[in-house]
Amino acid sequence: MLDALQFTPPALTNKEMKEQEVALSDKKTPYVFSLKGQLLDQGRTDSVLAATDDLTIRLKIYASGGENELHAHPHEDHSFMILQGSARFFGPDDEAIELGQWEGIMLPRGNLYKFFATSEEPLVMIRVGNPNYKKQAAPYRLNAKGEEMRGDSKENKTVPVIFREGAFFGDRGSA
Ligand SMILES: [Fe+2]
Repeated sequence: MLDALQFTPPALTNKEMKEQEVALSDKKTPYVFSLKGQLLDQGRTDSVLAATDDLTIRLKIYASGGENELHAHPHEDHSFMILQGSARFFGPDDEAIELGQWEGIMLPRGNLYKFFATSEEPLVMIRVGNPNYKKQAAPYRLNAKGEEMRGDSKENKTVPVIFREGAFFGDRGSA
């Protein structure tokens, strides 16, 4: 019934991430996944761990200082839960809250937010979203002016990813 536990490499573009979420939603029987992810010295990554039509689970890793720009997901509720490191989350009026390990935030669809990684160590989070991309209408992300803003755009403060050689979160040595 269950396949062997597998390491999920990150999706390196928005297109790849979307395709992986849609493909995983075809799985209609139980499967397991590892929370292992490679740490970063620059940039951010998303690994699509699991997905159904109505639910997506990603592992997100941000290098220290990594950030994104104010945006909203008009058709998706999502939540972040911090496994390692810390982040400062901001709302549309620059109101801010600092969250650390084992703390989380729920962002119902349509709410503007941004965050950056405040810890010296890379920030590692689980992101849970509803629904899958396949049930959302484009555009999937909007900036504060209501215009489309892709997650992998310069406007969203995307920088080249630099992986930390041989350094992983959640590495039990077997996965
Ligand atoms: Fe977002």
